[in-house]
Amino acid sequence: MRLSLFSRLVLGYLVVFALVMAVSIYAVGELRRFEDITRSILDRDNRVLDYEKKLADSFLSQIRYERKFTIAKDQALYREFLKFKGDFEHNLEETRAVADSKSAAMLDQVKEDYQRYQDLFAKETVQIRAHLEYPQDWYNKEKSKFSDAVLASLDRLQTERQQETFDKVKNLADAGAQAHRVAVMITLVALVIILVLSFVITRSVTRPIGILKKKTREIASGRFVADLRVTSPPEIRELASSFNLMCQKLNELDKMKADFFASMSHELRTPLTSIKEGTGLLLDGVGGAATDKQRKLLTIVAEESNRLIALVNSLLDLSKMEAGMMNYSFEESSLGPLINKAVMEITPLVEAKGIRLETEIAQELPSVKLDRERVLQVLRNLIGNAVKFTPKAGRVKVAARAIHDKVEVSVRDTGPGVPEESLKTIFDKFHQGSRDGAFSANGTGLGLAIAKHIIISHGGNIWAENHPEQGSTFTFILPS
Ligand SMILES: Nc1ncnc2c1ncn2[C@@H]1O[C@H](COP(=O)(O)OP(=O)(O)OP(=O)(O)O)[C@@H](O)[C@H]1O
Ligand SMILES: [Mg+2]
Repeated sequence: MRLSLFSRLVLGYLVVFALVMAVSIYAVGELRRFEDITRSILDRDNRVLDYEKKLADSFLSQIRYERKFTIAKDQALYREFLKFKGDFEHNLEETRAVADSKSAAMLDQVKEDYQRYQDLFAKETVQIRAHLEYPQDWYNKEKSKFSDAVLASLDRLQTERQQETFDKVKNLADAGAQAHRVAVMITLVALVIILVLSFVITRSVTRPIGILKKKTREIASGRFVADLRVTSPPEIRELASSFNLMCQKLNELDKMKADFFASMSHELRTPLTSIKEGTGLLLDGVGGAATDKQRKLLTIVAEESNRLIALVNSLLDLSKMEAGMMNYSFEESSLGPLINKAVMEITPLVEAKGIRLETEIAQELPSVKLDRERVLQVLRNLIGNAVKFTPKAGRVKVAARAIHDKVEVSVRDTGPGVPEESLKTIFDKFHQGSRDGAFSANGTGLGLAIAKHIIISHGGNIWAENHPEQGSTFTFILPS
């Protein structure tokens, strides 16, 4: 599906809306149907039943008065008869108007028998009024035949009407149960469709976002591979192609950085090394014997070029570390020999300054995963700083001990200590604490910054503290 996020959401909402509408329309339709049936029961069947009862009543009254009249021959009784006759005929018309076709046919039958009955009685009345002898029994028998037929029809009509009403109510109940089942089914199906649809839409959005998230982590960890393939939704496809572009750019930048370090190392180190070599040769008298003054100047040039080489090396190291391009080669190694090597290297300076340098290395030091050359660099700087900043005849102590599965190395001196406010900032690059004349020392202010980078890259920690009496201690911890 290549629809945009917006279209997907709108489509989803439309489907949900349509399903809800369908359920509602069905429910409303069914309710309307029930209403119609109920209304027909109330309006038609009940009314017909009512009229039928009235018809039967008025017909029975007619018969009663007709009988009384034939015996008593009283005109008042005849008028009563006429009153009920009027009622009956009126009710018959009314019933006919609301009856359905089946009832109407039966009512026609009633009308016909009723008419016969009326005709007979009319003839009988003529004879009664004329005071003639007539076959009364025969009339009575004939009238009874038709009146019984009328009453029987009315009775049947009522029974059928009741049965019909009962059937309708029963149908209504069945239809209600059926509608209930269908409504539950439709609702369940709609719910399932809505759930599936929501899942599909949400998944189609979260899946590519998950891919982007993974890619972001990859980029953060320094892998810039432009291999993101997201085809939909279009918004995220565009985002993915921007990611790929970003990866390409980062790759180019990475390469530029690497090229920069390579060319800088070459461009800066080569001439400096030539100067150093040249000065060394001149001092060795290769160009002829030099005067004392020339030797003094050449010595200064040699020292300064050494300092410059050290500065360039430190600068390049730090830049590489900050750019995350320093390669470490970790191996299991013991710290003891490294400490001894760093101490050995500095012995000439220690002796020249008359400093007492002690080491206290614990017997059972666990071996640590480290880059030997880099950790040696840290040790050289810490011990170098301690010796550099400790005045003549002072003391420096290098100690190593195991703490749980970690190794702690500390370099303690009897120098001036670090100003309290600089304890943290001395690990920043180019930070050189205030120096008073007595301890003025050369340096670039990069040593501790480099040391911190190296220790952090080993998963360790480094810090400095002062001692109340005298001097400071620089400590680092390496995990095994
Ligand atoms: N043992 C110490 N006693 C007193 N101050 C110290 C000691 N070690 C470091 N410092 C202070 O911290 C500053 C930074 O030290 P860092 O090693 O980074 O630079 P540096 O020694 O001056 O130069 P580099 O090490 O690059 O030759 C020093 O200039 C100094 O002021
Ligand atoms: Mg230093």
